[in-house]
Amino acid sequence: MHTQGLLAQVAEQLGRPVPEELAAALRQVPRHLFLPETVGVRDGQGGYRPINRSTAPEEWMAAAYADQTLVTQFIDDLPSSSASMPSIVLRMLQLSQVTTPEGTRQQPFRAMELGTGTGFNAALLCALLGQGAVTTVELDPVLAEQGEQNLTAAGYAPTLVQADAAQGHSGSAPYAWVLATFSVDRVPPAWIVQTAPGGRIVTPWTSAWCCYGTLALTVSPSGTAQGHFHDFASFMPMRRPGSGQEIENSASAQTAPFEEAKSATALSPWAVAGGDLDAEFRLGLTVPGAFFSWDTTGEHAPVRLRVEDTTSTSWATVDYDGTHTCEFTVTQAGPRHLWNEIADAYASWENNDRLAVGRYGLTVHADGAHPPWLDSPDHPLA
Ligand SMILES: C[S@@+](CC[C@H](N)C(=O)[O-])C[C@H]1O[C@@H](n2cnc3c(N)ncnc32)[C@H](O)[C@@H]1O
Repeated sequence: MHTQGLLAQVAEQLGRPVPEELAAALRQVPRHLFLPETVGVRDGQGGYRPINRSTAPEEWMAAAYADQTLVTQFIDDLPSSSASMPSIVLRMLQLSQVTTPEGTRQQPFRAMELGTGTGFNAALLCALLGQGAVTTVELDPVLAEQGEQNLTAAGYAPTLVQADAAQGHSGSAPYAWVLATFSVDRVPPAWIVQTAPGGRIVTPWTSAWCCYGTLALTVSPSGTAQGHFHDFASFMPMRRPGSGQEIENSASAQTAPFEEAKSATALSPWAVAGGDLDAEFRLGLTVPGAFFSWDTTGEHAPVRLRVEDTTSTSWATVDYDGTHTCEFTVTQAGPRHLWNEIADAYASWENNDRLAVGRYGLTVHADGAHPPWLDSPDHPLA
């Protein structure tokens, strides 16, 4: 009953009927069995609103069978685990090709999911492939235990490993399908080594500039992995135990002893950082290490865009004076001229048909190189 409603919402989101094999898996795995007492839903103001099963049982159940992300854990007020949006889970399963017809399926017949979370996606994989075929890896020991309890309660017992997914899990390798449910800015070498030739790796993507896109790679016998980006999903970043931060930033940037250069730009800071995902994705792909934040305190300017670098102490600021929308004041310092790099990359995107995320692809070489390309590997992106 509940699942029918969810299937209808997912079909609407996908713009087509849910393929029967996936619909059957969704019917078989009751999502509410994987949710904690309290889940967080977006409140429409940039935050989250808790829904508690005891105090609002109907609303909680409705949330479980709505096509929406439900946050299940917060660390330092930021979401650190969630039950992903069902339509996105299904799109990723389709991209991985786990649902290709029986006779044409990849050998070996094994899948590894990275980021167990609630266990819901692992249960779907069990329903599709059989639980003997599924390994799932979760870093957080509390979530791993909870995920295992959820899976057991729903009648599934995949191999659940509590470990850092950056290392994959060699114990059950090689896999025909590797699916990550957190975003990465590089594909860890272990994932490629543990994927059989012809196998698929599907992972949400992030760069320092923009967390968006899903990468679907096919692994070749020579050990490279290659494939296109797809224009959906923004997932929380992979946790990196020991690094202290997912993406290091240059907190000391503003005090670095570099000479500051002032200039003016006609490029609006909102054009590069105001939510145009196609533009921001391109900037993230071609200006490595650059990230931004908005300062609306009015301390320096009515609105300031601050650009920093994960790899050096370079920084740039772009100020809107509250009046002029055609000219903004730029200050930059450090070995990289970050604003110039951003402006050049944006001009290149703007002058080349404002290409969409799905036009880009990536090759991951055994030596760790990640060259991006446009449409095909024959057209490398400068
Ligand atoms: C979006 S949630 C996963 C949703 C999950 N697949 C489900 O069906 O509920 C992302 C998960 O990845 C886990 N994670 C993040 N970094 C990780 C890492 N380095 N190794 C293993 N798990 C990680 C998080 O703890 C979190 O539970």
